Amino acid sequence: MNGGLYNLLMSFQQFHTPVLANYSLARNTFLIRLHAPALAAAIRPGQFVMIRLSTGTDPLLGRPFALYDTVLDERGQPIGIDVVYLVVGKMTSRLAGLKATDAVEVWGPLGNGFPDPVGNDRVALVAGGIGQTPFLAHIRELLGTRGYGGQPLRRRVQNVHLYYGVRSADLAAGVDDFKNAGAIVHLASNDGSLGYHGFVTDLLATHDAPQHLFGCGPEPMLHALAQQAERRGIPCHLSLETPMACGVGICFSCVTPVKTTDGWDYKRVCVDGPVFDAACLQW
Ligand SMILES: Cc1cc2nc3c(=O)[nH]c(=O)nc-3n(C[C@H](O)[C@H](O)[C@H](O)COP(=O)(O)OP(=O)(O)OC[C@H]3O[C@@H](n4cnc5c(N)ncnc54)[C@H](O)[C@@H]3O)c2cc1C
Ligand code: FES
Repeated sequence: MNGGLYNLLMSFQQFHTPVLANYSLARNTFLIRLHAPALAAAIRPGQFVMIRLSTGTDPLLGRPFALYDTVLDERGQPIGIDVVYLVVGKMTSRLAGLKATDAVEVWGPLGNGFPDPVGNDRVALVAGGIGQTPFLAHIRELLGTRGYGGQPLRRRVQNVHLYYGVRSADLAAGVDDFKNAGAIVHLASNDGSLGYHGFVTDLLATHDAPQHLFGCGPEPMLHALAQQAERRGIPCHLSLETPMACGVGICFSCVTPVKTTDGWDYKRVCVDGPVFDAACLQW
């Protein structure tokens, strides 16, 4: 086995994880809590896990999900992780039917996670659709209220603004979690049923420029965000939600085009991302 593959395979573990809870947060949107102390102690904001059902082979492949947050016991020790998911197809429909006492197969932590922001005054996180999920842990890490991956608590920034856009109010999931974590939350909806009536990127454009942007959501939203970041001269990192088969760099099902010195090339989102500098992405 070559060294790179060996190091990759040693950097994550697979767990048979009991489900501790699984409940609805919003329309078609659920939070599943998994008991996985070693994973919870290692994972960082912006990283993800692959989840596969532990019974049967349909669907055969696991699916990627961002860390929503770690779960701590009464002594503050990490004992599990929360994942928030939108029901869109086979796996997420089956996940929604799981009960406490069921179990799933999980492997992780996977991917690179969010980098430290440029500047320590004002950072903006921009989420569309189900793209809010990586930002709860990110808010807590930025504000220094929870440590991840064994890192000591350190406040990285004074103000974290979350811009969260949904199609309609009934799809907004976790808004109180973000507020309680200390973010200044700005909401938008396509149909005007919640907050600003229109795209979340248009709402962002009406506000003062932050020192760093982070985005997660549908590709058209990420593209609009990357263009706005370039126009306003703001550093920007985007977390991509590219469909994945293995999650660990072997199958090349998750590639995305990135700029190189002599044109462009593909990178695997599962191992080179999912977080990329927006200026490096080839749209
Ligand atoms: C790094 C990463 C983190 C993610 N985090 C989350 C999360 O926290 N919560 C969450 O709900 N989802 C998240 N996703 C997306 C999630 O992986 C997919 O929604 C999931 O794989 C769907 O599985 P399924 O079997 O239910 O749907 P499938 O039956 O596989 O697909 C149903 C339909 O959805 C489409 N589809 C599937 N995946 C995607 C996708 N990624 N983008 C666009 N269309 C897609 C398919 O083409 C199909 O039309 C993440 C994806 C990545 C890559
Ligand atoms: S999902 Fe297999 S290489 Fe990325």
